[in-house]
Amino acid sequence: MGYFRKNIEAMEGYSPGEQPQGQEYIKLNTNENPYPPSPNVLKAINRETGASIRLYPSPMANPLRRKAAEVYGVKEENVLAGNGADDLLSILVRSFVATGDLVVLPIPTYTLYDTLIAIQEGETLKIPLTEDFGIPEGFAIKEARLTFLANPNSPSGIFTPVERVADFAGELEGVLVVDEAYVDFAEGSAISLINEYPNIVVLRTFSKSFSLAGMRIGLAFADHELIEGMTKVKDSYNLNRLSIAAATAALDDISWMEDNVGKVKKTRDALSVSITRLGFKVYPSQSNFVLASIPGRNLRGIYEELKRGGILVRYFDTPRLRDCIRITVGTDSEISRLLDALQGILEK
Ligand SMILES: Cc1ncc(COP(=O)(O)O)c(C=O)c1O
Repeated sequence: MGYFRKNIEAMEGYSPGEQPQGQEYIKLNTNENPYPPSPNVLKAINRETGASIRLYPSPMANPLRRKAAEVYGVKEENVLAGNGADDLLSILVRSFVATGDLVVLPIPTYTLYDTLIAIQEGETLKIPLTEDFGIPEGFAIKEARLTFLANPNSPSGIFTPVERVADFAGELEGVLVVDEAYVDFAEGSAISLINEYPNIVVLRTFSKSFSLAGMRIGLAFADHELIEGMTKVKDSYNLNRLSIAAATAALDDISWMEDNVGKVKKTRDALSVSITRLGFKVYPSQSNFVLASIPGRNLRGIYEELKRGGILVRYFDTPRLRDCIRITVGTDSEISRLLDALQGILEK
């Protein structure tokens, strides 16, 4: 007899991208921002390390909630803060999915969804994306308790127009999660839809555009009834004092984030052109990464050779993605090192 619940014993755990500690890589594998956060963020963290650290933080991360409501044009009651978007994803699945409940997600997408559903013993229906990684007709399954849509999606970077997201929300009886982890690199957002659809939850993270992956901060936007229910499920102090201070300061300096996003988008578009010249097929990304493929060729070898050369990209060993690598947009000089390395590999 094992100690674990049967489903935990049977499932695979989530496998995050490699996070090498101590070894120097050009790290283009987990979609972090190559530029630092606003200096005001670092100042706010330093200030917070004073006497207040012996006290518990605000349970609802209220300073952050207030600031987020102001910046995103919603009410405080529409905002819930999380210890990264991952924390909010876990809260969502625990809030809405009971054993055997139907949960719909596209495939391929962010693989954590699947893991969280397996923990909760939900019934996952994976809907294959179209040839070009678009969301297919019939994606909205009315009776699903929960439907996940990463927008832009990962690992493709493809953005689904907001009008289509609204149509999905209208068709669904259950909750639609629009995971906008990468939306600052795209055109459009579903946040305003929360005023129209009581079943939509929009997620944001500070890990990508705000350069704060190490601080673990995310936000959920939804109708106040959903936020109230999710609040019952969250850990009592799910954000620490430093993260609340950091995120609030980051939102206070949006233009710093926007400048970094502008640089990343420029490099992304240049990378897409150059890598196409090398013979890769590139999917039009509205994110801070690019999915590049050599159709029909397993790219594990290229991933491994890049790694031996000190460059980390992401390779997914699944039937749909074996002929792809996902490249996080780094600085111009990192990307030019990557392109040189790829050229060398392909010329061999
Ligand atoms: C689609 C998507 N959602 C959520 C996350 C997690 O964000 P966080 O770092 O805020 O937990 C990621 C991280 O890579 C992601 O790709």
